[in-house]
Order: sequence, then C-alpha cells, then structure tokens
Amino acid sequence: MAKDKPLPIVILISGSGSNLQSIIDSIAGNTLNAEICAVISNKANAFGIERAQKANIPIEVIEHSQYDGRECFDTELTRRIEKYQPELIVLAGFMRILSDDFVTHFYGKMINIHPSLLPKYRGLHTHQRVLEAGDSEHGLSIHYVSAKLDGGPIILQKKVPVLENDTESSLAERVLVQEHIAYPQVIQWFSEKRLQLINNQVILSQ
Ligand code: GRF
Repeated sequence: MAKDKPLPIVILISGSGSNLQSIIDSIAGNTLNAEICAVISNKANAFGIERAQKANIPIEVIEHSQYDGRECFDTELTRRIEKYQPELIVLAGFMRILSDDFVTHFYGKMINIHPSLLPKYRGLHTHQRVLEAGDSEHGLSIHYVSAKLDGGPIILQKKVPVLENDTESSLAERVLVQEHIAYPQVIQWFSEKRLQLINNQVILSQ
C-alpha cells in the first residue's frame, strides 16, 4: 500500500535541539512519516542549527534582539513559518513567550514539550523545583500551545521516577530519554490524523 504523504512540519528551537534530533532520527528510521520543512531558531548559536544543517534541513534564524518588541518578532515569525505551509508547528526547546495573537492564529496546529507533569511546574527550572519539593515522580508533558504559558490541552504525559541521589542533571537526562521517545510518537499521531481538539478536549482515535 502506498505510504501517505509525509506531514509537513516546522520546528522551532533555541538551544541544543536534542528533541529535534530525535525527530530527524525517527523520520530517517521510518517510524515517523513527516517532513521537516524548516528549522527556525531565535538564537544564531543554537547547537540545533548544526543538527539541522547535517540533515540538510532549511534553517531560518530570527534573532529577537533585532525586532522592536514581541509583536514585531511574532509577525516575522508568522511570515517565516507560513512560507513553508506546515500542517504542524513543533516547539522543541523554543525559549520565547509568544503573543496571544500568534498563539490564537496557530491554535490547534502548534505543540510544545515541557519537562514536568503539568499542571505541576509550569515555567522554568522544573527539575530543580521537583528535587526541592521532594517529589517521588517527575516527567514530561506534550500539549497544544494556548495563550496560558504551559497551560494548553495535554496530549501525552510520561512519568519517570525521582531517585534518591538524583541531581538536576541526572533527572533532566532521565526525562530527556522519554522526551525523545514521546515527541516523535505524538507527531506520528498527527501524521495519522488521529488527534482532534474538540472544545479544548484532546481526542485520540485508535
Ligand atoms: C527539553 O527539556 C524540553 O522539554 C524543553 O526544553 C528542552 C529542550 O531540549 N521545552 P532540546 O533543545 O530539545 O535538547
């Protein structure tokens, strides 16, 4: 049977891009039927740019310091994203707060991965906060992006245990291993058109 058309996606990054790498690898390994039309970074020195270059993916850098305020940056970001006509926008370590207009414009078509079991620990330094709180479990959440920071409808969560001698970095590493499995999986659900967002409720069909 002929394979369906790969899902066109654009990935937004600011840093290391290990999640980007897991998506690149899943496509190469045929477990994810998607095409990365472009990687967009708001940082010229993000390591993820090198990963994209190696995989021959078009790269766009939009340095926010060059723009006069959030709206101007978001207008340019919208223009660059739309150039590629993606069906899904994947935030993978993109460290920018997006304006309400931007988020509303792409609502239902933009997802994020966050290193905590939302609604716990929205925002930054999640691993440190989990250790400080003495939690016995931690994890990740993949969610639709909504106007509320890290507050959009949740698509998938994965738990990891917190171990006795964990440091911030050992815990972050354990969560990342799961992130790299979960994110390509969720994107594949989009590719298979199995996800629906109805009245802000996520529905996954079999
Ligand atoms: C990940 O922990 C992700 O959950 C968070 O930012 C980190 C990005 O890591 N949003 P990488 O750039 O994909 O390596």
